[in-house]
Amino acid sequence: MKKLKIADGIHMLTMNVDNILFEGMWELANGVTLNSYIVQGDKTAIIDGVIGWDGVPETLYKSLEEIGVDPQSIDYLIVNHMEPDHSGWISNFRKIKDDFTIICTDKASKMVTSFYGEDRIRTVKEGDALDLGQGKVLSFHPVPNVHWPDTMYTYDRDIKTLFSCDMFGTFGRMGDHSFDDELTPEEVAFFESEGIRYYSNVMATFTPSVKKAIEKAQTMDISIIAPGHGPVYRKNPRKIIDDYIRFTRYAEGAGKDEVTILWGSMYGMTGKAVDYVEGILQREGVKHNKLEMPLESDSEMVATVLRSAGIIIAAPTYEYKLFPPVAAALNELGRKRITGKAAFRFGSYGWSGGAERELAEIMERNKMNWDFIESVEFEGAPKEEDFVKIEAGVLELIEKMKAKVI
Ligand code: FEO
Repeated sequence: MKKLKIADGIHMLTMNVDNILFEGMWELANGVTLNSYIVQGDKTAIIDGVIGWDGVPETLYKSLEEIGVDPQSIDYLIVNHMEPDHSGWISNFRKIKDDFTIICTDKASKMVTSFYGEDRIRTVKEGDALDLGQGKVLSFHPVPNVHWPDTMYTYDRDIKTLFSCDMFGTFGRMGDHSFDDELTPEEVAFFESEGIRYYSNVMATFTPSVKKAIEKAQTMDISIIAPGHGPVYRKNPRKIIDDYIRFTRYAEGAGKDEVTILWGSMYGMTGKAVDYVEGILQREGVKHNKLEMPLESDSEMVATVLRSAGIIIAAPTYEYKLFPPVAAALNELGRKRITGKAAFRFGSYGWSGGAERELAEIMERNKMNWDFIESVEFEGAPKEEDFVKIEAGVLELIEKMKAKVI
């Protein structure tokens, strides 16, 4: 666990977590950090918490002592968000100290009780404040549904620090650099990419609420953004706000100037057309990504589709429906409410169609509103005339996606 001073009276404890499935399902190729913050006035508060993935309270005890915080002096546990990556330490903390007050929203309060049996809780609402003494006043600002309904910002009026919990977070383990002004250009690119992964995996379903939370942050006077995951922004907090504005737009159909081919093939017939399409994209100088389902992780799949302005779905009919691994991927994208993408589909069928019907059902059921070019279907292997139609579709997609590139 790393211990860092953020400002006078504010410290961060942070640890990298690897080899887990986040939320029990997202494979994290590059890990994630969990950040906790300690604010000291006359009284002391911990905002969210990290004990150690092994749940050993001594880890926290030792870390607090090393930054000069007597664990017995901690009066308040501020739970910005009840999801156990931020709150799973509460029961273990009780092994260190038994006398503290939990501060959280009304919605979190019910879950704190039902998950951990805690009842010494003070609920807060918009603008409520906690005076820790020595000029340290924290105020609380609910931002529901980012990502659970209980979430709030905590704001330190002294240093103008926004403890934003999941908002403005990213995946990706941190090395020696934890502040935005320390990051190398490669690390900036890494965290931007991991921010997209995080946004697509965890936040995209809640894009309308995230937009409201961004608006709320923009009304606040912020010098530092200290999120629950990823680097702390003290040189340019505007950067992560602007990144998040862009991510919300990706979820609503915009994207980088790249095409993602989301594909699967039973016996290589649709695969032949994918190879052909790759040649066209290379010839046209269009950056592209290939995601073969079901070989790709869902985490990588939703992140790559989210950031792309153009999507090619290449999948055959399978038992009267869309090839199941690709259908499953599209259903996941629908669950994540990734809407408005420019798209084009082609695929093979053996003895009947049916893929198109299921594709339309998935789009309709999830209100995805993707903007499709007319699909191309071929019987068995693609023939010369099919390649001609596919090329026309790809070129039309390249034109259509231009309006969506940001
Ligand atoms: Fe970082 Fe919604 O948990």
